[in-house]
Amino acid sequence: MAESSQTFVKVSASESFVKIDPERILAPIDDKIYSGFLEHMGRCIYGGIVDFDCQVKGLTNEKGYRLDVAKALKDLNMPVVRYPGGNFVSSYHWMDAIGPKENRPRRPELAWLGEEPNTFGTDEFMEWCEFMEIEPYLCLNMGTGTLDEALAWVEYCNSDKNTYYANLRRKNGHEKPYNVKYWSLGNEVWGPWQVGQMTSEDYGKKAFQWAKALKLLDPTIKLVACGCTGFDNWDYYVTQALVSKVDYHSIHLYTAHEDYYKNVTSPAAGERAIQITAKLIDLAKITQNAFDANIKICFDEWNVWDPVRANGEFGAEEKYTLSDALAVASWGNLFIRQASVVGMANIAQCVNVIAPVMTTKTGMFLQTIYHSFLLFCKYMRGEAINVHFGSPVYTGDTDGSAGDLKWIKSVEPVLTMLDVSAAIKDGVISIAVVNRSLEEDLTTSFRLEGKYKDSVETYTIYHDDVMATNTIDKPDVVGIKEEKISLDKLSSYTVLKHSFVLIRVTIA
Ligand code: AHR
Repeated sequence: MAESSQTFVKVSASESFVKIDPERILAPIDDKIYSGFLEHMGRCIYGGIVDFDCQVKGLTNEKGYRLDVAKALKDLNMPVVRYPGGNFVSSYHWMDAIGPKENRPRRPELAWLGEEPNTFGTDEFMEWCEFMEIEPYLCLNMGTGTLDEALAWVEYCNSDKNTYYANLRRKNGHEKPYNVKYWSLGNEVWGPWQVGQMTSEDYGKKAFQWAKALKLLDPTIKLVACGCTGFDNWDYYVTQALVSKVDYHSIHLYTAHEDYYKNVTSPAAGERAIQITAKLIDLAKITQNAFDANIKICFDEWNVWDPVRANGEFGAEEKYTLSDALAVASWGNLFIRQASVVGMANIAQCVNVIAPVMTTKTGMFLQTIYHSFLLFCKYMRGEAINVHFGSPVYTGDTDGSAGDLKWIKSVEPVLTMLDVSAAIKDGVISIAVVNRSLEEDLTTSFRLEGKYKDSVETYTIYHDDVMATNTIDKPDVVGIKEEKISLDKLSSYTVLKHSFVLIRVTIA
């Protein structure tokens, strides 16, 4: 047995426990950690959030929005959605997708080797965001795109002046500026798959100049630098180069493994990524004398994804299991534990492409991961609180992301079977507990400082088979079971093997 908390590790405990003192606040949780991502990729946009050729009455509205998808995403209450890519953006010209639809060119698409009809573009995305009550976050093309084109996009979206692109927006029927606050300086520019791949030195120089110009045009925008995984030399270089110019440093990581334990423990790499990035930002502030810089981490692509089994060129339609739902719950836990440094996180993606929501031409279903993500989106808000917990530990190998994450156990020698985070909002404490053990139910003593009401709510995600999935024909195989229990049950509460439970207690 070992004890583990986010602050220290001590071996030796005779039973699993979770200790919480609600006065030990870690940090406010930024609601933006529950943001999403939509890319022109596979069936994410066309056939996902919109269907312009829908034959089923009532499935779409007059604008072609899929109303069933809209409802599923609205329930997640996502504050921000990143668009239009991803790799797609690196050969995307936003001006192809504005104005009368009949004049918009159909283009070859170089990221996923498809064709882009451009029938959904900037104005359609802004209207969809307004309908969804979601704030847009646009990613700039630093591949084939120019600074002029980027400036024009910011002007088109944000300017209220009497200038060319602001007037073009008016001509296209949108009098008021959209005031897009979040803009990122390219996507995965370091990647060999990226159109316009650059070295960190070239990126640093170019992004510095772009940032300067973009903020001259609109000083209110928030700029997101293109980072790598957070544990790469690219991140060191780019934080040094851009510390005085940007508001966020973005990082991306996907975890996945066929082996159950490797799958559910690999999100630990995401936590290390955040911790390392936070220190790189500190280091850049110190070494570059940028003491006023206030840079948060924007984890703008995260999820469970194996690009070999769910190939991007075929739409990356992952079929998620209970095991993946537990991994997503551990992703949620790490964002809560690292709330002090994470300013935004975007599950990648939202619909059909590595997504919690899947559509057919006539309906939709919610994947297993939707349910664990939903519980976080609904309840893990407010302020993160420090948790001290102990449980048996996982001692096997770690890995993920196609063999890249073997290192996890060397930097994270104690991986507890229980993975826990907690949040407090309006006098209610929400405790998110994943039991990663494949074999053992863990009888856990929840010890909470203070006085609580007798009625406790629990929300459990469990199935006998860790490989259980939801499908269009059997959409409810893995779901959420709600129960009410009395407070005293928490002193010896059984967290089922390979399950996720979210427990809500109310301060008396
Ligand atoms: O989300 C799918 C892809 O993963 C994105 O286009 C890219 O940024 C990342 O490699």
